[in-house]
Amino acid sequence: MILVTGGAGYIGSHMGVALAQAGQPYLVLDNFSNSQPSVLERIGQIAGQAPQCIEGDVRDAALLADIFARYPIEAVIHFAALKAVGESVAQPLRYYENNVAGTVTLLQAMQAANVRTLVFSSSATVYGDPASLPIREDFPLSATNPYGWSKLMMEQVLADVDAAEPGQWRIARLRYFNPVGAHESGLIGEDPQGIPNNLMPFVAQVAEGRREFLSVFGGDYPTRDGTGERDYIHVCDLADGHLAALRYLRQHPGLLTVNLGTGQPTSVLEMVRGFEQASGRPVPYRMMPRRPGDVAACWADPGLAQQLLGWRAQRDIAAMCRDAWRWQDGVARQLHRG
Ligand code: NAD
Ligand code: WQD
Repeated sequence: MILVTGGAGYIGSHMGVALAQAGQPYLVLDNFSNSQPSVLERIGQIAGQAPQCIEGDVRDAALLADIFARYPIEAVIHFAALKAVGESVAQPLRYYENNVAGTVTLLQAMQAANVRTLVFSSSATVYGDPASLPIREDFPLSATNPYGWSKLMMEQVLADVDAAEPGQWRIARLRYFNPVGAHESGLIGEDPQGIPNNLMPFVAQVAEGRREFLSVFGGDYPTRDGTGERDYIHVCDLADGHLAALRYLRQHPGLLTVNLGTGQPTSVLEMVRGFEQASGRPVPYRMMPRRPGDVAACWADPGLAQQLLGWRAQRDIAAMCRDAWRWQDGVARQLHRG
């Protein structure tokens, strides 16, 4: 059985569907700080059965000891974290406590229970402002905000844990680029609280008519059309990448570090047009100044993941927009009415 921390969240819920469809039993641990219990039923509608879930916190050492004692956990996929960049600048201690201390507590519990297989959610944010593109895993690392530092610190903790007990641990540090989209059923997807920080959920809410226009943060970048370029990856491709990482870890002890991206850059305006086509709705936008801390462009070299894991992203921007719209125009809209 696999323990999925943060399994009620955006990426975790899609992971649950992928695990269920792979016939892999799993247990969710989530404190619902950024998710709703109702997602579990919707995972069940897709997968045939709602996952077992424990409401609790990864910082709760006694709870973790109890879970490892009661369930036959052989590996952990660790999504549970806070992820809002701006909030992390205002509340750094909350981020370090939840993300870094939470991961240390989890690793201590794993070590005590002799469960040494972990798939960890890292982020392309650890590359800071890349010197060249596409980004390879051996590029220099840096951070510009506490959220990014928390990911870098956790990556270091994992490297140190692996080095202290060589060959004992099986750890994957998966550096996600920009996860977007939703399950093709439209039953699960991304539902941010308040004003969305990220592009795709904001665009989706403009298309829905809930927001008047998109602010495009910067039209003067040295990119093809002047707007920021990113490597958007469909959340279901991302989940499949985790299955591939788990398969790899079964065969290979040690520390694996790979990018999960498509290798394809998409600009803000290309995303706007893609969403307009998928939804048949206009997405009005206004050009605004650059957002502090943003890089001009960021996309992956996905070659190592393909070489080691035999995984590559399958779904294009049209599919990402189509699935995000199906979710936004259905369940997401209902959730906000009720
Ligand atoms: P999310 O907020 O939707 O999901 C995280 C889940 O973890 C939520 O359900 C939340 O309630 C839970 N959680 C948070 N702290 C917890 C704690 N202390 N104990 C138990 N549960 C806790 O976020 P997501 O987009 O699904 O991200 C999942 C992971 O991927 C995070 O680690 C995030 O940093 C990382 N990541 C996300 C992105 C992105 O753009 N979405 C990009 C790169 C990396
Ligand atoms: C994408 C592009 C914006 C909103 C962030 C985190 C990163 C990772 C993923 C977790 C940029 C532009 C956005 C808007 C806009 N998270 N934009 N108007 O900044 O690449 O990455 O989420 O690890 O750590 O930093 O993603 O979706 O916020 O922005 O013009 O209202 O869209 O300027 O060019 P980003 P994003």
